[in-house]
Amino acid sequence: MEVIILPDPERAAQLVARVVARELRACPELVLGLATGRTMERVYALLVEMAGKGLDLSRCRTFNLDEYIGIPASHPGSYRSTMDRLLFRPVGLSPDHSHLPDGMAADLGAECRRYEAAIAAAGGIGLQLLGLGQDGHIGFNEPLSALRSRTREKALTPATLAQNAALFAGDPAGVPRRAITMGVGTILDARRCLLLVTGAAKAAILARAVEGPITAMVSASALQLHENCQVVADAAAASLLQGVDYYRWVFGHEPEWAEFQDLG
Ligand code: GLP
Repeated sequence: MEVIILPDPERAAQLVARVVARELRACPELVLGLATGRTMERVYALLVEMAGKGLDLSRCRTFNLDEYIGIPASHPGSYRSTMDRLLFRPVGLSPDHSHLPDGMAADLGAECRRYEAAIAAAGGIGLQLLGLGQDGHIGFNEPLSALRSRTREKALTPATLAQNAALFAGDPAGVPRRAITMGVGTILDARRCLLLVTGAAKAAILARAVEGPITAMVSASALQLHENCQVVADAAAASLLQGVDYYRWVFGHEPEWAEFQDLG
């Protein structure tokens, strides 16, 4: 794991967008794993800008981490309509290249198995973008999610319902209670993971995820097991980390990050 600390949310989002763009240039058929949440919105806006300047997203395929159960794709709070609005439509990604679990499927277990099979058939996820829930979740892998879990149904915690109320008129009671999510094991199978975390409200949970023990109580701590995982944090989110001097030293010296020093 590497931790990259940048001064503010804007520069953190820029680094993530530039890494995605670099990987897409190297491999236009990249299979991208995508996350929703407010943290990612700026990343998608930057990718839309880059697409306007020639970045080719037409050949990549995308798999989102999760989707609510029981609301149609056309609901403005669904992750399908959120992704269509923020990224897929603006960059002109053809609908058959973008995948989300179907939260309206009659047989949800079969839908979860189908989603895993679709990821495998695409060759696995090359680059997985991740945000961090207030309770340490990645995707919707709420506390005590098995560290080897695969795509399945999960009940959402009250903290998650509150965190995600914005797309449901600000009312946690309006947020669907259950979701389909890639499992922690599914996420760990991605060849590369990028976790983007901003804001002081995430500082304590980020410290537990990065520097605490690996525990199912904090799903993001499983990323410590991943061989190619970068955590990108702004200064506020990084404020409770112990190893900041070392993380900054690595960022300043690893050749991979040479082209990103303007953001530091
Ligand atoms: C939702 C998503 C997660 C995401 C989280 C972060 O819960 N299912 O994948 O990490 O939101 O949300 P935000 O960026 O709004 O803090």
